[in-house]
Amino acid sequence: MITRSHDVVIVGGGLAGLRAAVGLCEKYDVALFSKVHPIRSHSIAAQGGINAALGNNPDSADDSWEKHAFDTIKGSDYLADQDAVEIMCREAPGIVYEMEHWGCPFSRFSDGSIAQRPFGGAGYPRTCYSADLTGHVLLNTLFEKAVSLGVKIYPEWHVTALAVDENACHGVAAFDLMNGELVSVDAKATLFATGGYGRVYFYSTNALINTGSGIGMAYKAGVPLKDMEFVQFHPTGLIGTNILMTEACRGEGGYLINSQGERFMQKYAPKAMELAPRDIVSRSIQTEINAGRCFEHPLGSYIRLDLMHLGEKKILEKLPGIRDICIDFIGIDPIREPIPIMPCQHYSMGGIDTDVTAATGVQGFFAAGECACVSVHGGNRLGGNSLLETIVFGKIAARSIDKYLSAVSVSPKKDMCVRTVEAVRAKIEHFLAGGKEKTFQLHGELARVMSKHVGIFRTLSGAEAALDEIEALRERYRNAGISSPSMHMNYELMNAIELEYMFDVALSIARGALLREESRGAHSRTDFPKRDDEKWLKHSIARISGDGHPDISLRDVTITRYKPMERTY
Ligand code: FUM
Repeated sequence: MITRSHDVVIVGGGLAGLRAAVGLCEKYDVALFSKVHPIRSHSIAAQGGINAALGNNPDSADDSWEKHAFDTIKGSDYLADQDAVEIMCREAPGIVYEMEHWGCPFSRFSDGSIAQRPFGGAGYPRTCYSADLTGHVLLNTLFEKAVSLGVKIYPEWHVTALAVDENACHGVAAFDLMNGELVSVDAKATLFATGGYGRVYFYSTNALINTGSGIGMAYKAGVPLKDMEFVQFHPTGLIGTNILMTEACRGEGGYLINSQGERFMQKYAPKAMELAPRDIVSRSIQTEINAGRCFEHPLGSYIRLDLMHLGEKKILEKLPGIRDICIDFIGIDPIREPIPIMPCQHYSMGGIDTDVTAATGVQGFFAAGECACVSVHGGNRLGGNSLLETIVFGKIAARSIDKYLSAVSVSPKKDMCVRTVEAVRAKIEHFLAGGKEKTFQLHGELARVMSKHVGIFRTLSGAEAALDEIEALRERYRNAGISSPSMHMNYELMNAIELEYMFDVALSIARGALLREESRGAHSRTDFPKRDDEKWLKHSIARISGDGHPDISLRDVTITRYKPMERTY
C-alpha cells in the first residue's frame, strides 16, 4: 500500500481550507486534498459579498463590529454562540483588508474605498463585494497566495475516511481519482474544510460536489455534529435550474412580486421588505406559492424577482453574472423581464461540532467553514456571513493547529491509517461486485425525500416519514453496485462511497427536525409555530450510536451581551 506522511492534512480546497493552508505552510509540511481542482470549489459560487463593518457606505458611517454582531445574533434567532459571533465580527474588517492587500479586486466607491451594499437582516450596508462574483475573486486570490507560498496541493483526490482511534485523529484514507489508487495519509493534525451538504436536497443552489461527505466521515468516526436540523433555504433560486440568484439582486433594490402584482413582503416584514433575513423571505415566498398567488412554469410554481426598474446601467455594473446566467440558462434578460424564482436549499448552518478555535473534541482533528458548526449562524445565517466565516475560521484554525503542534509531540498511528484504507478498499470491492441498486437512483430518491419532508415547513409526521424513507433507502444501498470498473475518474464510484455519508447526514437532519418542537430560524414546525426559549434555547448535538443512528443531546447556547428578544423586521 502507498503511504504518505505530512505534518498537516487539510481536506477541502475552498476558502477555509486555502486560508488555513496559507497560515501554516511556512512552518509545516502542509498537504491540501481536494476532490476537484481548488478553484472549482463551491466557494467560487458565492456571489453577493462578504460582511465587515468598514463604514465605507455613506449610510453606514456609524456601523461597528458590535452592530454586525447584534444583527448576526438576531438573524440567528438567538441560537448562535455569542462569543463566536463576536470573534467573527471583530476580525471581519482585518480579513477584508488582508484579502484586499493580497490582490482581491473588490468593487469600489468613487472615493476608492471598498464598496458596500445592503444585505438581508443587516442594519447597515456592510456587505463588501466584487460585482456579483465575490466568491470567485476571493477564491482566486487565496489560491494564488497558496500556490505562491508552495502549499502542496493534491487536486482531484477524494478523501474517503477519517482515521480516528482512542479519540485522536491520525490522518485519512485518500483516493486518487486519476488512477484509483488508495493511499494512507498520516498526519499530526487534520483539518476538514469540506463544505456543506446541499446535495442531500433535491432543490439546492449547491454544486454537485456538496455532498456533505466530510461531515458524514467525521460523524462516522465519532465526532459529534451540532444543530443539523438548521438548513438554510435561499429565497431566490432560478426556476428549473436552482441556480443562485444572489441576495444582491434585492440588495441593489430588486422586488419580489406575486401573481396579484403585490410586493408581498409588505405583509411579512413591513420594514425590511425584501431585505428581511433569508428564513423569513423564503417562508414568505413559499406561503405565497402554497396559497396559489404565484406563476406557473412547466418546471414548477414561482414568484417574480423584478430588477427591471434598476435599469440597464446598474444591472450591467452590479449584477452582470446574474444577467448572463438568466440569458444562458432560461433565455430571460432581467433588464427586460422579471426573473422566475423559488426558494432552494442553500446552506448548512449545522455541521461538525467545533469550539471557537476550530477544534473538535477529537485530538488533532479540526474543522472550519461550512462543514463546521462553531456556531456563528445559529438558526439562520445572514447573507454575506458565510464567506466571512470561511476566512476568519480558516485563519483561526491555522493558529490553533500551530498552537497544538507546538505544545504536544504527536506521532500519528500509521497502522490506524492503513486499517482505515483497508476498510475503504473492502467497500470499493463490494461496489465493484455489482449489486443491482444504482447509487445515482438512490441519491435522487434521498434528495426528493429531504425536499419533501424536511424542507422549509416541517411537521412531526413529515419528519417521521423522512426517517422511515431514509432508512428504507439505506437498506437498499447495501445492495448497491456500480456500472464501470474503470479506475480513471470514476465519479460513479466516488458517489457510491459518498452516499453512505449522505444517509448519515440526512438522518441527523431529520432526527433533529423531529425532536425540536419549536420554530426557530430556518427550522419551522407548523405544529409548533413559536420559538420556545425555555425548552429549546439549546444546541442539538448528534452522536452516532452503536446501531448507526443519531443520538441527540442538548447543550446550552453561549449568551454574552445580547439577550434573546422578539425577532421582527
Ligand atoms: O445571495 C448570495 O449572494 C449568497 C450569499 C451568501 O450565501 O452569503
